[in-house]
Amino acid sequence: MAGPDISILYPRHVDELQRRATQALERGGFDHLVIPSGNVHYQVFDDRDYPYAVNPQFKAWVPLTRNPGSWVVHTPGEKPKLIYLQPFDYWHVVPQAPAGYWVDAFDVVVIRTAGEARQHLPARPERCAIVGESHGALEGYTPNNPDAVIDYLDHQRTIKTPYEIEMMRRATDRGVRAHRAAERAFRAGASEFGIHLAYCQAARQDANELPYGNIVALNEHGAVLHYTERDRVPPAEVRSFLIDAGASHAGYACDITRTYASDRDSEFQSMVNAVEAAEQRLCDKVRAGVDYRQIHLDAHLEMATILRDSGVLDMSPESALETGVSAKFFPHGIGHYIGLQVHDVGGFLESDRGGRIEPPDGHPYLRLTRVLEPGAVVTIEPGIYFADLLMEELRSGEHAGAVNWDKVDALRPYGGIRVEDDVVCTDGDPINLTRDGFASLD
Ligand code: GLY
Ligand code: MN
Ligand code: MN
Repeated sequence: MAGPDISILYPRHVDELQRRATQALERGGFDHLVIPSGNVHYQVFDDRDYPYAVNPQFKAWVPLTRNPGSWVVHTPGEKPKLIYLQPFDYWHVVPQAPAGYWVDAFDVVVIRTAGEARQHLPARPERCAIVGESHGALEGYTPNNPDAVIDYLDHQRTIKTPYEIEMMRRATDRGVRAHRAAERAFRAGASEFGIHLAYCQAARQDANELPYGNIVALNEHGAVLHYTERDRVPPAEVRSFLIDAGASHAGYACDITRTYASDRDSEFQSMVNAVEAAEQRLCDKVRAGVDYRQIHLDAHLEMATILRDSGVLDMSPESALETGVSAKFFPHGIGHYIGLQVHDVGGFLESDRGGRIEPPDGHPYLRLTRVLEPGAVVTIEPGIYFADLLMEELRSGEHAGAVNWDKVDALRPYGGIRVEDDVVCTDGDPINLTRDGFASLD
């Protein structure tokens, strides 16, 4: 089935960005929005560069992720300008001449050296809101990142345009294909490193293109929330596999986690199934007007219910939440905004004029505390982990008696469970990009 027509969606996306940018300039009292794509950075005492990371404010406008030294300029009432650096350089592959569905939306100026940008930028930098990194800035055009402008843009960016949602679908298509390849590699007995390579091969992306470092964890490693070590040799006994890995498309991310047991009849697999069923119920709560903090608290009750029903905990889900016991097993937030950045911006914003909505007491790692609106895209990623550090804290605390430690010790070798999907909030039922993606493979 042919997807939506990008040549229609993209100009509408740029129109919307212009509308937002014009409003942001009004808020800040500026005449131009100027967005550098960013610069290459070098390692200390070395001539090797770090992987270039594009300014997200830049790739919001134009799907270019490998073009340091370029600029977007928005002036209200004018066509946006793209100052496109295409250097003369025989050491590296230089960006191709501007081409693609995005070109017509801009007045494009090609420059050959970074400094040439100056003659195409607005003449009075003091009238510009310049949003970007200061490091290596063009003299006279150092970013000022005005709060009033950034807060407005960040707040607006939490509502994705149809173009952006389509880009995230395409990122998801890559991600789900790669997840299937990773599961096959796991079932075939590959090491963490081998599974990672199988993933990259199927996604056709490497570390610099993926939206975050793959988490590929066998057995106990699943308990380390951001495990990125990747053993080169498979363990003697493989019991479980947790993979949290995404993909990108045109600068947009997907963020997907799945957990598998080697033995499909094991108690661990039953717990995975229970987390997955709970995750589906939580995804169904991604609806306009819902406070995301409530979804997080509901997730605690869901996880605590699973722990009680499986005999790990002998306390009510409500008291597990109240006492902080559930947070020893589920120590991260239920999710976050996703888009141009895997942890997309604006999750705490009180309004488009700034301000901060704090996470609930005792839940410092929740990254999204707002009421959901149509167009928001969020992850839902509940989990249960048996992390040594947190289990020791629980064992030495006042609620140790409510825990079946034999059960905990039996589950520790499996590490942990997380199931994560990316979900669009709409005026009606939520759209689960991840489930749609897996379904389209079947
Ligand atoms: N992959 C990082 C996260 O799930 O937030
Ligand atoms: Mn996530
Ligand atoms: Mn993730």
